Amino acid sequence: MRAQIVSTGLAVPERVLHNTDLEKMVDTSDQWIRDRTGMVERHVADNGVAASDLATAAARQALDGAGISAEDVDAILVATISGDYPWPATACLVQHKLGAKPVMAYDLSAACTGYLYGLSQASAFIESGKFKNILLIGVDMLTKTLDWTDRNTCVLFGDGAGATVIQAREGGEGVIDTILGADGSSAELLYQPAGGSRIPISAEAVEAGKHHLFMNGREIFKQAVRVMAQTIADLLQRSGKTADDVTVVIPHQANIRILEAVADRIGVGMDRFFINIHKYGNTSAATIPMALHEARQEGRLKTGDLAVMVSFGGGLTWGASLVQF
Ligand code: ACO
Repeated sequence: MRAQIVSTGLAVPERVLHNTDLEKMVDTSDQWIRDRTGMVERHVADNGVAASDLATAAARQALDGAGISAEDVDAILVATISGDYPWPATACLVQHKLGAKPVMAYDLSAACTGYLYGLSQASAFIESGKFKNILLIGVDMLTKTLDWTDRNTCVLFGDGAGATVIQAREGGEGVIDTILGADGSSAELLYQPAGGSRIPISAEAVEAGKHHLFMNGREIFKQAVRVMAQTIADLLQRSGKTADDVTVVIPHQANIRILEAVADRIGVGMDRFFINIHKYGNTSAATIPMALHEARQEGRLKTGDLAVMVSFGGGLTWGASLVQF
């Protein structure tokens, strides 16, 4: 049995925040954000809208696309670091909202690499013969954790969800190989200091702004370029493929300059990188399934095409997957 990504779905909040809106909030400019990140707009959820709302909407689309109902789903995996609650898992809320059977449902936390960690798990479940239809969702709402007075971070993130149905198929390639990695020695380059057991939420923690996302952008940038390029090279070498075999690269959308540097290092033109960062900003665990959805809709991925998905993010975590559609 091979694991095949058979359908996708995407959901974003209605409200759009343009760079020119951010100009009125912090000392920044439309031009700076475009030039330094490639971002133009992002979607921001209103109060009362939570991760499971977007995840469920994206999941319904993916189920429709696969021609199956929620009752056919054998497992629900949600990659997120900004679920509805610290616990229980957002996947359980999605299970209930979809009206799925009481199947295994859990969240996994690998920040921007969460979708690829989930893809690896889903593939292993399918190849073992345990499950036939797995709903794998990447969703994040990091705008809820941002300090909207900090121009270093508030311009970078948006909210969104991407959902995929991973199905057992006989024959074909599907998910061919995945490389995943993590290095906790640099965990504090990108993290939310308060809200866990290290610094529980308290008036003092909030007063000190420790409930907000913190990022050392410059250091993350350097590591992201090096590690993403190396992971793609390792993946292709291990699979006996070359960059020329790859139809499209679906990268984590954190910064267009990171992607240009990665493209340069691996010798693949930017025309083969699928980019939608200008519309959504960095939606963390959702960027890859959202990009995958739009790449398929735009006809960039046809049956038989080979795609590389690659990511780098908080943890630090990274990964790359080789998938034949
Ligand atoms: N508008 C205007 N100026 C700004 C802004 C802004 N929004 N933000 C920063 N600046 C200023 C800085 O203050 C600095 O000014 P200074 O020189 O007077 O100190 C200047 O611009 C340059 O700052 P740098 O940090 O060197 O800018 P850089 O070119 O590195 O771009 C950025 C910053 C966009 C954050 C970049 O470093 C980046 O994209 N990093 C990686 C982000 C990422 O990949 N995150 C990981 C994924 S997220 C996840 O896992 C959840």
